[in-house]
Amino acid sequence: MFKVVVLVSGGGTNLQAIIDKVESGYIPNTEIKAVISSSRKAYALERAKQHNIAGEAVVRKDFESKEAFDKALLETLDKYSPDLVVLAGYLVIVPEIVIKKYSNKIINIHPSLIPSFCGDGFYGLKVHEAVLARGCKVTGATVHFVDEGTDTGPIIKQKAVEVLPGDTPEILQRRVMEQAEWIILPDAIKELAENSGK
Ligand code: GRF
Repeated sequence: MFKVVVLVSGGGTNLQAIIDKVESGYIPNTEIKAVISSSRKAYALERAKQHNIAGEAVVRKDFESKEAFDKALLETLDKYSPDLVVLAGYLVIVPEIVIKKYSNKIINIHPSLIPSFCGDGFYGLKVHEAVLARGCKVTGATVHFVDEGTDTGPIIKQKAVEVLPGDTPEILQRRVMEQAEWIILPDAIKELAENSGK
């Protein structure tokens, strides 16, 4: 069984796409062992609960220091012995000790065609605001391995999405999620699961 832990911070629509594709068997021989959120209020935790998936919150402000938070996050991940850690709208910089322990086993979904509109400060709606401000006609999403940098790891999958006249950042974000993120993230997990030999 290919064991996956998903890290979240918000609404969890990418998590939902993964849950649906695992439950349908599209992603074979895979179990989402847990959902770990950086916020107790994340609706993604409710989605996990609705599907009987273990949900935990590891919240930075609960800890005296960054080191203590980093250690707690690593210990929480280790409890589930994941084969793959998926960042699905996770807004916290992944601690170096986690990246070292799970080297080449962490993937992230970013809502642009990397190397455009990525790196520090480019997340959520800010990405789509920048795409519209630049006048781009095409944008999209990228799944990549996570390394020590921000959005700098090897690219696994990308999917392009049209920018349409009259798009607002919110409309564009929704289209990128529907037509790209919710497709390529489960597809990347499917390929990694199938090639894992698990
Ligand atoms: C979205 O902006 C998505 O592009 C990015 O994280 C945000 C929240 O996604 N990856 P989700 O609904 O919590 O999956």
